[in-house]
Amino acid sequence: MKDLKKRILITSALIYANGPIHIGHLVEYIQTDIYIRFLKLNGHNAFYCGADDTHGTPIEINAAKEGVTPEEFISRWWKQHDEDYKKYGIIYDSYYTTNSPENQKYTELIFQKLKDANYIYTKDIELTYCENCKRYLPDRYVKGTCPKCGAKDQYGDVCEKCNAAYSTIDLIDPYCSICGSKPIKKNSLHYFFKLSEFSSKLEDWLNKNNNLQPEIRNQILVWIKEGLHDWCISRDGPYFGFKIPGEENKFFYVWLDAPIGYIASTANYCKNKDFTADDIWQNSDSTIIHFIGKDIIYFHLLFWPAVLMGAGFHVPDNIVVHGFLNVNGEKMSKSRGTFLTARELADLLEPELLRYYYAANLSHTMTDIDLDLNNLENRINNELVSNIANLIYRTLSFLNRNFDSQTSTILNNELYEEIKRKAENIQDSYYNYEFRDSVKEILEISSIGNKYFQDNQPWELIKSDKEKTRRILTDCVNIVKTILILIKPIMPKFAENIEEQLSLPNLTFKELDKRIENHEINQAKIILKKIDPIILKKPKEKDDIKTTFPILDLKVGKVIEVKDHPKADKLWILKVDIGSEKIQLCAGLKPYYPQKDDLLNKHLVVITNLKPTKLRGEISQGMLLAADGGTNVGILIAPKTPPGSNVIAEGITGLELPEVTIEIISKLKMEAKSGSAYINNKLLHTENESILIDKNIEGKIR
Ligand code: MSP
Ligand code: ZN
Repeated sequence: MKDLKKRILITSALIYANGPIHIGHLVEYIQTDIYIRFLKLNGHNAFYCGADDTHGTPIEINAAKEGVTPEEFISRWWKQHDEDYKKYGIIYDSYYTTNSPENQKYTELIFQKLKDANYIYTKDIELTYCENCKRYLPDRYVKGTCPKCGAKDQYGDVCEKCNAAYSTIDLIDPYCSICGSKPIKKNSLHYFFKLSEFSSKLEDWLNKNNNLQPEIRNQILVWIKEGLHDWCISRDGPYFGFKIPGEENKFFYVWLDAPIGYIASTANYCKNKDFTADDIWQNSDSTIIHFIGKDIIYFHLLFWPAVLMGAGFHVPDNIVVHGFLNVNGEKMSKSRGTFLTARELADLLEPELLRYYYAANLSHTMTDIDLDLNNLENRINNELVSNIANLIYRTLSFLNRNFDSQTSTILNNELYEEIKRKAENIQDSYYNYEFRDSVKEILEISSIGNKYFQDNQPWELIKSDKEKTRRILTDCVNIVKTILILIKPIMPKFAENIEEQLSLPNLTFKELDKRIENHEINQAKIILKKIDPIILKKPKEKDDIKTTFPILDLKVGKVIEVKDHPKADKLWILKVDIGSEKIQLCAGLKPYYPQKDDLLNKHLVVITNLKPTKLRGEISQGMLLAADGGTNVGILIAPKTPPGSNVIAEGITGLELPEVTIEIISKLKMEAKSGSAYINNKLLHTENESILIDKNIEGKIR
């Protein structure tokens, strides 16, 4: 590790491009960023590569739900993630995406190498398939009764009640969690990776690698003993991912190409370098270190090294595993208001203070970390402000006031050496991922400095021995310099600010050995102040009805013809242009819209994915929406929007959705109030305008 020339690649797990960064994710990204900053400040040839993890079913479905393409969807999240990292001082040397040409190239290459080495085979397997959605249903998209304990509403992979693991086809009374239909069992051909053949190679790697945390090594060895199963690495379309070469509608499973994203991001980093990703990944001269959370060790310590071994690539040198974040002793929870995004927290707390708190709690273990907000406040106020910032300010301002900002020479060599030894220990703690110890010892140094200042009473001594006082202050300046170098990986902005006050820019760990003597400092400034208690807001009451998936395909339709229904007095038969086609609707509007001209040419809102039905012998291919005020009825209209345009209600509408039933529609809360229309409290609108209610009727929408 002390070889400075050796290339060191550092990575964090790739966040899904499917939601915001939250304070749990930040544990890892801050941990990794502290480590890479430490390495760089120590003169190592290290770089930090990351990416968004962009493939898989949830991303595909959530994009459709918002009416955008998966590409648009993931690029939106990428931008937001990028901004959030910067806010927290998390600086990647390459931040990329798994949906990149480099990643496709490496995924296909590795797949080919595994195939050539005979580690891939295909097999027909039975899966759950929804005939209504026309898709295979992976774990999270089918629910039902647990086959072991009988608990209702469990996902297709594990039971949350009894923890039993099973496959989707084992569920009793399964239903599609997208549309609610009962899925069928259907066979499909899939690609498997022979993980089972890697047992002894993996054991060997685990036993020889003494960087790994013992608790992790032992856990993985137990899993290997229990027997490894081959791993299915393909998924049927529709899927957002890389198509398997030679296949029509089969894709690589996201967990195959996600870690390969580490390689792709390295390739992106190397674009303007004098070495390539292959120099890192196909050559064992470099060092590769992954940082991950404890929930994904199966993927990173079994699948991933086996895939790399099988393809002849460089297996990671270390995988650092951290625990999960709790808030105030409990799991993060939306209802308790403790599920905070990175952005939300940045409004409550200066981001660098969170870096400090996490560092003060991070060790090289899987132990969970508790963000205890009282403790956070105490630590910042007592440790950072009253101890460290106090030492800095009293030292610098004393020099400013009494010595024209000029230091002289070190007085107490013994103290200087003691601090130097402590600094070396702190470096070891950083190398060993024991940031908690680094913080503890930095605080000790600061306490020593404060005590030294206090014991010598420079405000008294200056009256009798001015030069000795100046030398004591010089000792303190050297302690301040040491502290700010040591805290720089954790609080880079703070450290930079103190460097400016000290007039010692760009300090690195090399300067720990440098005596600051006969040096002129700048003006002291207070930059850290005590913080107030942090108060979390509980979220407002939940919306009455939640849809997890979009269920309505709503379009603007223009009435182009109005006819009497031959068999029903109250029904009009409308011909409606919905852009792609013209459909027929039967609507019970005659009592409220007695003249044909009342409806002709109106721009209505139509549910277009309703199963066609016959009303008294006449076909109706959808349903128009109208507000029912009790005595009068008003149709929903979009006068300025062309026919065929989408009508949007966030999370409820989407494109190319499966058929919906009247029963499902009747579970939605649809209402017209103050001239606008809402479904489950979401405003109905088009790209041009909000949906209006004809005659300004208020009431239920039907
Ligand atoms: N996309 C996968 C990783 C692929 S790596 C080739 C994934 N993404 S994630 O967004 O769910 O998580 C990203 C990282 O954040 C993981 O290492 C995960 O362990 C970590 N954390 C997610 N929630 C966390 C907490 N509540 N607390 C601490 N870490 C957490 O998994
Ligand atoms: Zn379905």
